[in-house]
Amino acid sequence: MSDPTAAFAEYEREATAALAAAATPEDLEAARIEFLGKKQGRLRDLQKSLGSVPKEDKPAVGKAFNEVKTRVQAALDARQAELESAEGAAAADALDVTLPGRAPHAVGAVHPLTRTIAEFKTILGRLGFAAVEGPEVEDERHNFNALNIPDDHPARDPLENFYLSAASVGKGGGPLLLRSQTSTVQIRVMEQNPPPVRVISIGRVYRPDTIDATHHCQFHQMEGLMVGEGVTMAHLKTVLTLFCRAYLGEGTKVRFRPSFFPFTEPSVEADALWHGAGTGDGGEEGRWLELGGAGMIDPNVLKAVGYDPERVSGFAFGFGMERFCMMRHGISDIRLLTENDVRFLRQFG
Ligand code: DAH
Repeated sequence: MSDPTAAFAEYEREATAALAAAATPEDLEAARIEFLGKKQGRLRDLQKSLGSVPKEDKPAVGKAFNEVKTRVQAALDARQAELESAEGAAAADALDVTLPGRAPHAVGAVHPLTRTIAEFKTILGRLGFAAVEGPEVEDERHNFNALNIPDDHPARDPLENFYLSAASVGKGGGPLLLRSQTSTVQIRVMEQNPPPVRVISIGRVYRPDTIDATHHCQFHQMEGLMVGEGVTMAHLKTVLTLFCRAYLGEGTKVRFRPSFFPFTEPSVEADALWHGAGTGDGGEEGRWLELGGAGMIDPNVLKAVGYDPERVSGFAFGFGMERFCMMRHGISDIRLLTENDVRFLRQFG
């Protein structure tokens, strides 16, 4: 090349013209490749021609080359910024702010009963109770026999239970039913584990009750079971009191009323004296809430699972879950919990 500076000037003129003429990002990219491409193109050609410049001219020519290259690069950057801001302005023009907004995806929420269950598990977990599960389709041994419920007990009436059709026969040959209580899990846990045991089990139970605001044919119970050497009624009361204080508030008291269950002796109904707000009829004195049934495990139950009632003792309790959830959230009708009406469920988002 005879006069590199002339070639630089020509390159610069053509490059700036091409960049200025680029009307779209695609045009600009084509111009960039032609004039500033690293592998091939006009800049690369110029660079190659530098090889033939006499040695004494090299510093000056090299400097001139770099200056041209920097200016063309700056022109590219400037044009790119111009095109981008023009694009932004066009996009802003295209936005019709009077159109209704697009609804975001609906965010789901945890069902209030699921929350209550999680909270119970957390509280009792802190007291050392492991959460376990049992099957909803049960045999008579686990739902009745091992729980010391005699053959003529009214709870066994086929009209009080959901027995499965005669064709469904359990392992032991007997009929199967949807469990009517979570006390079944006491038996399953004790059959499979030597003492000591300390568990809760929260799950569905089924009874053919007429459905109304406070009854349903399927609901949830929480079963609690603690067995070991020297377990007494005092432990039962302490556990229930600590549980109620964690769930309902510090000042909560627990009382026992005598009751009867075939699987406990003695048996009690446990109530909590709650001073919490939002109960409607609370007042200064607080209000007694029914927690559910409880008691010391009947020796016959311990024997049925192979435990020695002379060596170990234990307590059990069984609470309905829905009532706690309804009280906590001010829900007046149990049916709302299973109807899946999004207007109801959305309130717990
Ligand atoms: N299973 C009883 C029911 O469904 C509730 C119950 C009472 C469970 C006393 C217990 C208990 O573990 O000790 O009515």
